[in-house]
Amino acid sequence: MNVINGDHTGPLPVWMMRQAGRYLPEYKETRKIAGSFLDLCYNPELAVKVTLQPIDRFGFDAAILFSDILVIPDALGIDVRFEEGRGPLLETVDQNSIPDINDGNLLNHLTPVLETVERLREELPDKTTLLGFCGAPWTVATYMIAGHGTPDQGPARQFSLNHPDSFQILIDKLVIASSAYLIAQLKSGADAVQIFDSWASVLDENQFERWCVKPVQQIVSNVRTEIPNAKIIGFPKGIGAFYKGYAEKTGVNMLGLDWTIPMKFAQELQSEIPIQGNLDPNRLIAGGNALDDGIDAILENLTDGPLVFNLGHGITPLTPIAHVEQMIQRVRAFRR
Ligand code: CP3
Repeated sequence: MNVINGDHTGPLPVWMMRQAGRYLPEYKETRKIAGSFLDLCYNPELAVKVTLQPIDRFGFDAAILFSDILVIPDALGIDVRFEEGRGPLLETVDQNSIPDINDGNLLNHLTPVLETVERLREELPDKTTLLGFCGAPWTVATYMIAGHGTPDQGPARQFSLNHPDSFQILIDKLVIASSAYLIAQLKSGADAVQIFDSWASVLDENQFERWCVKPVQQIVSNVRTEIPNAKIIGFPKGIGAFYKGYAEKTGVNMLGLDWTIPMKFAQELQSEIPIQGNLDPNRLIAGGNALDDGIDAILENLTDGPLVFNLGHGITPLTPIAHVEQMIQRVRAFRR
């Protein structure tokens, strides 16, 4: 929490996106007991358990609520399923169905997730930051339009160009739902929240401003109306030159960076706002010197300003646990 407030004098904090997941045998075991992936997300006892697994094993400085960005469409009454090896499968929405999407049952449906947040804040030591999260409206909408993951989110890009008014209605509904959800997470005990815009990189400047910047700015503003000092991390993955100005326009307190941006540019951004990132998760899979070199580049270039050490995207199931240990040891050994 110190770093998000701009302090960079203490030890370097570290956590990993997707730190609870299939690279951990204890996660796979709990996942089996839970039944489906969504059953796990809506089971406070088991969701607390898997959230704490990487904290217990590695001693990360932050715990991220175990859930998924697609619980929002699920709570809006859209059928969402996760099939083994296939990723998410959703009932699609279109011009006819978008106006009927109804948030009447939203927070009621998400009560178990909010209970997970409450229990986590009770169980975690004070020094461990508890992060809540949601997906950014654009990224969530890409799954709602296509009904599944795609290589470049072509279906949502086409839809947003062909039917901008209809797409605007969908985005507006997601802004309202996401704002209410983040406010509820913060009131339930989350210390900060992260907005994942994993697909922000596929849009041109005009579309990026309309579908990524504006909706996130609205969410930040809605959350701050209710909770004036709310701490919010923006993670618009892969947006390159668009990172410049993103924090100022949206009002987020910290910027999550992926690994594709030059260190010099990352330093420029860091002179304006605390940053989080940005190790290539492939270096974590590779291990050895490839991993050490990637860590050292971050330590050498980005530790004169506020930094939370993280990956530039989620850890994948292929990652050996020994490599995570190697990363933590190296980051923990760092002295300013
Ligand atoms: O970071 C954490 O440990 C917290 C939990 C978390 C999950 N998903 C658990 C999960 C978070 C923060 C997310 C965010 C999420 N979900 C994003 C944004 C971040 C990113 O990775 O880009 C997106 C795009 C999703 C949607 C989603 N959920 C996809 C595309 C998939 C399938 C791909 C995959 O990794 O299987 C999921 C499933 C999912 N979400 C799993 C986990 C642990 C794996 C499902 C399983 O255990 O069977």
